[in-house]
Amino acid sequence: MKLVVGNEDMISRLIADEFIKQVNAKPNSVLGLATGTSPLKVYANLVKANKEGKVTFKDVATFNLDEYVGLEGTHNQSYRYFMNDNLFDHIDIDKSKTHVLKGVGNYIEYMNQYDDEIASFGGIDLQILGIGSDGHIAFNEPGTPFDSLTHIAELTESTIRDNSRLFNDISEVPTKAVTMGLKSIMNAKKIVLIATGKNKAKAIRDLLLGPKTEDVPCSILQDHPDCTIYVDEDAYSLVK
Ligand code: GLP
Repeated sequence: MKLVVGNEDMISRLIADEFIKQVNAKPNSVLGLATGTSPLKVYANLVKANKEGKVTFKDVATFNLDEYVGLEGTHNQSYRYFMNDNLFDHIDIDKSKTHVLKGVGNYIEYMNQYDDEIASFGGIDLQILGIGSDGHIAFNEPGTPFDSLTHIAELTESTIRDNSRLFNDISEVPTKAVTMGLKSIMNAKKIVLIATGKNKAKAIRDLLLGPKTEDVPCSILQDHPDCTIYVDEDAYSLVK
């Protein structure tokens, strides 16, 4: 793993530059995308670069990590809504090539073919990840098997509490999600992870210094051949 420490604006710009470099080198790149507040500035940088003509997404395909079970894609807390609102609606991407797991309807069927669908596009070239305060990546909570593919996850109390800040009330936070598994994520050719704030400090310490264990899902990244961790000083504060 490589490590980059900087302020949020700087690390967001550096990650956006990685995406731009990737897409300019391979216009039909397959991008793995994440939701949450962590990647927001990365996406804002990509929108800006697209509007300035520095990159085009017209031949790109995307696969998102996860989705809440029970939320329609039109729900303002669904991850499909998030992606449209923060990225897809503002760039020249072909929306039919944007894949987000479903949380309603035939979501199980869609989930079961997700890893094959990714493989049929040639696999993910560049994957961005956030991280949960308990070390989860996507919705792979502590205890998730390292060899997991896309599956249904029960959210932990800590994740429900963390994510409740985005809902009107904690009772509205779904308790289940559909998520790419840890093996699905490790299949990406290149991974960048972004973490900011003190709330992420323990997870980053465990990721960088801790043992590789299913109790800390992000620790699997220690084995990835091309993974860079981007953190701010607060997220890095327990490492030094
Ligand atoms: C959710 C998402 C994760 C994300 C995490 C952290 O649980 N499923 O993909 O990394 O939240 O979110 P944030 O970036 O808002 O702290």
